[in-house]
Amino acid sequence: FQHPLTDTFGRNHTYLRISLTERCNLRCQYCMPEDGVNLTEKSKLLSANEIIYIAKLFVDQGVDKIRLTGGEPTVRKDLPDIISELKSIRGLKSVSMTTNGLVLTKKLVELQKSGLDALNISLDTLNSSKYEIITRRKGLERVLMGIDLALQLGYNPVKINCVVMKGFNNDEIIDFVRLTENKALDVRFIEYMPFSGNKWNVDKMVPYHEMLSEIKSVWPDFQKLENGPNDTSKAWTVPGHSGTVGFITSMSNMFCGTCNRLRVTADGNLKVCLFGNKEVSLRDAIRDRVKEEDLVNMISLAVKRKEEHHGGMMKLSRMENRPMILIGG
Ligand code: GTP
Ligand code: 5AD
Ligand code: SF4
Repeated sequence: FQHPLTDTFGRNHTYLRISLTERCNLRCQYCMPEDGVNLTEKSKLLSANEIIYIAKLFVDQGVDKIRLTGGEPTVRKDLPDIISELKSIRGLKSVSMTTNGLVLTKKLVELQKSGLDALNISLDTLNSSKYEIITRRKGLERVLMGIDLALQLGYNPVKINCVVMKGFNNDEIIDFVRLTENKALDVRFIEYMPFSGNKWNVDKMVPYHEMLSEIKSVWPDFQKLENGPNDTSKAWTVPGHSGTVGFITSMSNMFCGTCNRLRVTADGNLKVCLFGNKEVSLRDAIRDRVKEEDLVNMISLAVKRKEEHHGGMMKLSRMENRPMILIGG
């Protein structure tokens, strides 16, 4: 194939999301079932060497941005080494991470030294008792300190991911927007999405237009900004605020037409869509010593099977998928 990472709809995939682990130090309700998930045995997870090998393969085919996800990427002890090895790959412009922020005060300085370019931090509430309910753990103060440290270390913007769930945190939308007043944050409200075991239901989802009208009732001059060509979020700002506000509208306003993402799961499967379940095992192919050229063909075939879009809310609410913790977002 001439353009292995271009699909049949002309979308070229230059952004790879690699999940580093299935483990997490939180237990967020929307991300994993109450009883947890069956963890893949360690020997079947990608090693650091395999991750770097896969990353190089994709960069050779045009990927220029890699995001590390999980589970929680910081639970992996070799994270700093993985980042610095990724940073040495020629052609790769950015290595970023999505984290729950719990251990940033302990680890971010080292991660930045290893070359981490950007980070997105998940935070769904500013209230410590609600934090314990949603994450089934304590830690709000630590996350807030982690966010401030990220700003101090010069990350700009620091993206905050807030999954909005009706009856849980929709009453905090205005407080989250206020966070952007004096800080270089990009607070992104995410429409709650269905994954296996997360008890999603349409009544718990707060659509884009509802969030917008609530914010506009407080700030009538709330203003739409331009977006990058492949952004997941629609950017807005309150004039005069240092930061911005975004909306990730996978449910009410899908953005599949501009999708440029591929995913590799911690157990080594290539997943061509967040909501796709036709996966191929890169791990097995690598361990079977499949030649690089054949690996590229395998990847290309999977990319060519990618569907035009995720199929809409009703289809998603019924489909089998991995729980979010086994995908990485
Ligand atoms: P940037 O790389 O900074 O643009 O961040 P991102 O929004 O791609 O990644 P992040 O890990 O912060 O994810 C934020 C939310 O967007 C999560 O709920 C993800 O599941 C969702 N998301 C990320 N990529 C995609 C995608 O390709 N499709 C859909 N539908 N949702 C996505
Ligand atoms: N719906 C929307 N976003 C989700 N995330 C995890 N589970 C869901 C869900 N069910 C978000 C996390 C994290 C990002 C990777 O995905 O909050 O920020
Ligand atoms: Fe891309 Fe699938 Fe997300 Fe749509 S749902 S933007 S096709 S990953």
